[in-house]
Amino acid sequence: MNFPHFKSIFHDICSMKIDTILFETSSQSISQCPEPNKPEFAFIGRSNVGKSSLINMLANKKGLAKVSSVPGKTQLINHFIVNKSWYLVDLPGYGWARVSVKIKLKWEKDINNYLIHRENLHCVFILVDSRHEPQTNDLEFMKWLASNDIPFVVVFTKADKLSYNQLLSSLASYRKVMKRIWEVLPRFICTSSDTGMGKEDIFDCIEGILQDAK
Ligand code: GTP
Ligand code: MG
Repeated sequence: MNFPHFKSIFHDICSMKIDTILFETSSQSISQCPEPNKPEFAFIGRSNVGKSSLINMLANKKGLAKVSSVPGKTQLINHFIVNKSWYLVDLPGYGWARVSVKIKLKWEKDINNYLIHRENLHCVFILVDSRHEPQTNDLEFMKWLASNDIPFVVVFTKADKLSYNQLLSSLASYRKVMKRIWEVLPRFICTSSDTGMGKEDIFDCIEGILQDAK
């Protein structure tokens, strides 16, 4: 993806220091989202994996994005504007949210539509729980992203719940499973919203993507 009209703001963006981050809007579907005139990075993954917590960790602001121990807390497309120049987007989770099948299908349609058609979306961070074996719906979702040419990075969450060795072994087994399907593996980033682990890596990743798009 190439967005020449963003070049003028790259200099400010790439310092990667969050001076301001504000909630801008919640949207049910792409048609209600803000004008697609700023680079955007979205967080997706199973319900309860830690998407909203990760956004709060990056922002250094508890309570910016709504967090809950009950899956299904985030139900809309939430835009947060960073330094008045780019967006972080908190998406609803897939998987075990306690809502009807009809609502789940509607969310899925709205989110897929957003992911495919959001022209300023530079990268999707797909979050997976570092404690779990690779899940079929996550792997299927990654395949779907690739088949739609949507760039993504895999983010391991809740790394604080594992020892260092457990984390390495979980990472290795995830890569092993993915190698059966993928010739080239995506980038992996390990994070913990509790300890702040992975914050720099995510910002480096965002900065790199923006630089590459120059
Ligand atoms: P939905 O909006 O329901 O899809 O969930 P979500 O993916 O946004 O998850 P959320 O951030 O609401 O976190 C779910 C639960 O996991 C909460 O109880 C968080 O406190 C907890 N949690 C999230 N990230 C971490 C983490 O890095 N470490 C630990 N220990 N707990 C976490
Ligand atoms: Mg959430």
